[in-house]
Amino acid sequence: MNDNLHQLRCFGCGARISGAQAQPDFRCVECGDLFEVDYPGWGQRKGPDRPNPGALKWLWRERRCSSEALDHSGVWRFRELLPILDSFGNVVTLREGNTPLYPLTRAAKALGIDQLFAKHQGMNPTGSFKDTGMTAAMSVARERGFEWVACASTGNTSAAMAAYAARAGLKSLVLIPEGKIAWGKLSQAMDYGAVTCQLKADFDGCLRLLTQIVKEAPIYLLNSVNPYRLEGQKTPAFEIAEALDWNVPDHLIVPGGNLGNSSALGKGFRELHELGLTARMPRISVIQAAGANPLVRSLAANHGASLEPMQAHTRATAIRIGNPASWRKAARVIQDTGGWCLDVTEAEIAIAKAELGSEGLGCEPASAVTLAGLKKLLARGAVSPAETVVLVLTGHTLKDADYTIDFHRGTLLNADESAGLETEIDGLRRNAVATDATPAAVLAALKGRTR
Ligand code: F0G
Repeated sequence: MNDNLHQLRCFGCGARISGAQAQPDFRCVECGDLFEVDYPGWGQRKGPDRPNPGALKWLWRERRCSSEALDHSGVWRFRELLPILDSFGNVVTLREGNTPLYPLTRAAKALGIDQLFAKHQGMNPTGSFKDTGMTAAMSVARERGFEWVACASTGNTSAAMAAYAARAGLKSLVLIPEGKIAWGKLSQAMDYGAVTCQLKADFDGCLRLLTQIVKEAPIYLLNSVNPYRLEGQKTPAFEIAEALDWNVPDHLIVPGGNLGNSSALGKGFRELHELGLTARMPRISVIQAAGANPLVRSLAANHGASLEPMQAHTRATAIRIGNPASWRKAARVIQDTGGWCLDVTEAEIAIAKAELGSEGLGCEPASAVTLAGLKKLLARGAVSPAETVVLVLTGHTLKDADYTIDFHRGTLLNADESAGLETEIDGLRRNAVATDATPAAVLAALKGRTR
């Protein structure tokens, strides 16, 4: 491990250790909190030793035209800001990152906002944002000589881990909650060769069990408690700033589950600012599902001083998490940037997802909480129409096709959930048409369509 360039700093008590000293569960032996990767040299570099922002921006852009595998990765293209390996020869990459920042023209018009974008992390090799974190942490696993890697997952982490482990030639173990993950994700873990254990437990129970297992066997834990995951997941912040010509958006909106991603993106934007690559920070807001909203409750109850775990329920299964590991980090990001933490209902998620689908993009349900949350923030006056807003869409629409089909067939939401929103929902779900097999009947179905 390149201990000269990076250290692990405890988020709770500030203790510093080398990468090699980390416990198998990545918890601090002093206080039990999580670590984050810290680069002590950066703060001290002054004058000519300080990274030259102009040179870095030029280099990162140039790499997009290079034929090197490392340069094709939207994570390792920025490797000066993640010096976590002894040798970049250990990198395991599927050419992740470099995902599109799409203008959301229809939603922007409907909401009366000038500049609304979707950073679509579902356009990664395994269809979710997890790939950017997995390339980083899997490379560390390979460099440190592990044969086995493992994660607990609501689906996407397991898909990403299984794929990157296969590329690295490592064996992988997945613990998932039985019956509570989307088929697309489950099939990926199996397809890429992971030992896939479906347990009679929720995500939080799976993670607890895995924490015990990694203390008993030499298996490298790849959940987002592993701080190297977050180093990869910070890089979409760099891409967003680069795409906006090194300006940052006024507001970034991220779904919240285990709360690693919001923590990572906050770190990415903070580092850009500290190194002088951007002039300021965006506000970062986190949106949870109403049935899985422990951080919303914690911030409302005690400003994030403590978090009460809850039984989580939502059909956005990716964020069905009641005891999020990185809640302290995410709370700090929200508070430091002046963002908000809100929750949205099942119907609001379903509507937002259908609207994103009708833009020709689509996403999985957990990602759609961002648009649903933006509507609430606008209604409260927390976001103004003149602001530039970026929604982070975390997963591809094909991850959870059942959800989409259930919505369009009218079987997703019950009467209580849809109450008061029936017209809006009916307007969006007119796409699933059952009709006779005659030209007249099919043409009749087109009547009255505005698009
Ligand atoms: N969106 C999607 C599509 C996800 O898969 C997840 C988390 C999140 C949002 C929330 O991100 O946990 O960093 O706050 N999925 C994890 C998994 C837990 O196991 O795939 P977070």
